[in-house]
Amino acid sequence: MKRIALLTRDCGGVNAAIRAVVRTAVAAGLEVEGVMRGYAGLMSGDFVPLDRRSVSNIIGLGGTILKTARAEDFCREESQRLGLARLRERRIDGLIVIGGNGSLAGARVLSQVHGFPVVGIPATIDNDVPGVRLAIGTDTALNVALDALDKIRDTATSLERIFVVEVMGRNCGWLAMQVALSGGCEEVLLPEKDVPIDALCAEIREGRARGKASWIIVVAEGRATAADVAEAVSAGTGLETRIAVLGHIQRGGRPTAADRIMAARLGHAAVEALVEGCAGGLVHILDDRLEFLPFGAAGEVKITDIEADYHLLKVLS
Ligand code: F6P
Repeated sequence: MKRIALLTRDCGGVNAAIRAVVRTAVAAGLEVEGVMRGYAGLMSGDFVPLDRRSVSNIIGLGGTILKTARAEDFCREESQRLGLARLRERRIDGLIVIGGNGSLAGARVLSQVHGFPVVGIPATIDNDVPGVRLAIGTDTALNVALDALDKIRDTATSLERIFVVEVMGRNCGWLAMQVALSGGCEEVLLPEKDVPIDALCAEIREGRARGKASWIIVVAEGRATAADVAEAVSAGTGLETRIAVLGHIQRGGRPTAADRIMAARLGHAAVEALVEGCAGGLVHILDDRLEFLPFGAAGEVKITDIEADYHLLKVLS
């Protein structure tokens, strides 16, 4: 293994992971090329050489210095072959892919179908990678969303209002659940759990009768829109309800210490795995230990326990 390439998506901690990959690789005597704009750049052959200097002062930056783009086209075998040809043109011996389920699916195909040495690093605010407890980016997104939610609470409390806050996460409720739990919210609506709106409205009406003034309801984007929930809650309670859609602010921002440390460990481990000839899977941390998970080995198993956290939220709210 002499030359490796690195391809990324964006979220808090990805730049810290790029830095860790590049500096570990250089220390091991390897050359590193960054792939610009994800799989789109892989297909068009858009590479940039990365050395120790090119990753200076990026540890605290959000996003990815390599840019990123959606590349639906990469599911076609022809596109994958084009990507492989680009890697071979650049004499690349191994690839590291940093991203969520979409990016890691591409990594898996390159590895399992085409036999190219690839190691993945889970990085997504959705925290929906099967078999992985925490992806890079989750802690930053959670803290960004919590900061916004704390501000909304100031207004909700002052105006004695109901707020519905919509949180990202694609089809997974992990981020919404953690935002709601850490923000001390009254309710959270998740794709994984059915909470009837009628029951929620009854709970609010009873709370009002006891003198409770404000509510914050978090809704995961994979469950419903904040607008639809607010309309239903308003209709069912007769109370004024406002919404806040947090949107892409959750994917940006200065990475937290936890994400930077995970990025350092996983970036380092990914290079070591390639050097040791242990490709074909992703590196992650489980029970405080570095683990190597072969692509596909976890099936669809999610290891976050949303049910227990939901129960806790209801007891404490
Ligand atoms: O997967 C990360 C994520 O931010 C999801 O939470 C969200 O549904 C989606 O990406 C948004 O995608 P886009 O930036 O393409 O609108």
